[in-house]
Amino acid sequence: MNDSRLSHEGRVAIVTGAARGIGQAIAVKLAAHGARLVLVDIEEAQETARMIGDESLVATGDVTSAADWARIDTMVQERFGQTDIVVNNAGIGSNKRIDELDFEQWKRTFSINLDSHFLSAKQFVPQMRRNNWGRFVNISSNSIGIAIPGMSHYMASKMGVIGFVRGLANDVADSGITVNAVLPAITNTRLTQDMPEEVKRQTWQQQAIKRFAEPSDIAGAVCFLSSDDAAFITGQAVPVDGGQYKIS
Ligand SMILES: NC(=O)c1ccc[n+]([C@@H]2O[C@H](COP(=O)([O-])OP(=O)(O)OC[C@H]3O[C@@H](n4cnc5c(N)ncnc54)[C@H](O)[C@@H]3O)[C@@H](O)[C@H]2O)c1
Repeated sequence: MNDSRLSHEGRVAIVTGAARGIGQAIAVKLAAHGARLVLVDIEEAQETARMIGDESLVATGDVTSAADWARIDTMVQERFGQTDIVVNNAGIGSNKRIDELDFEQWKRTFSINLDSHFLSAKQFVPQMRRNNWGRFVNISSNSIGIAIPGMSHYMASKMGVIGFVRGLANDVADSGITVNAVLPAITNTRLTQDMPEEVKRQTWQQQAIKRFAEPSDIAGAVCFLSSDDAAFITGQAVPVDGGQYKIS
């Protein structure tokens, strides 16, 4: 048990897609709670490292590559000795109706949004088991529960995240490892910058809290789920969406 006043003191957390957007906000939040951060992105996450302002490790790599996960693991071992928390946040999403969607885009979406979660589990579950402690927080999307055209590939991959979370949670619960999904609302990042303002507004107006989410709105739930306090929560899909997604 971690008895520090800072909930994440002594923990090492990998956040993917940490160069900007939701991943950047998550990394900043975890660092503020005492975690040492590994900033994984296909782009250099220097801006995030500057925001954190201490000993974070910038680990540039492609989350769809098993070789890159192994290389990142080696870097983390050398720098921090262990990995306690993995936040699988890197993701892509393009708006394409089935008429225009091709198989390459389908596969690319699944590779970044879901295969990466499998690869991270294969890489880090063994050492988490040895430590008898671990956290995976995997970013899905609340879009799985609302009607937006052109999202079949994205929704399928994000539903897949929830399926993987539920399954993995059962496999690792005996080692003090929890696995949960966070489902953000439509959020103000580069991912949504090309979406027409009217579509954005129509989407967030369906929320109980009627405003466009900022990346920092999502980070708090990830921080909690990756803490000791969430030790009895696993296999769950947690909407962080201002009250849009209805359980029915
Ligand atoms: N923005 C939204 O409205 C929204 C809503 C629900 C869920 N999400 C999810 O939240 C996550 C973050 O989205 P965002 O809005 O911050 O997007 P973003 O496009 O701003 O950031 C995504 C980050 O992932 C990185 N990335 C992309 N492919 C990668 C790869 N192969 N390897 C390593 N890094 C890679 C990018 O370089 C970028 O820094 C995604 O999984 C997304 O699906 C976003």
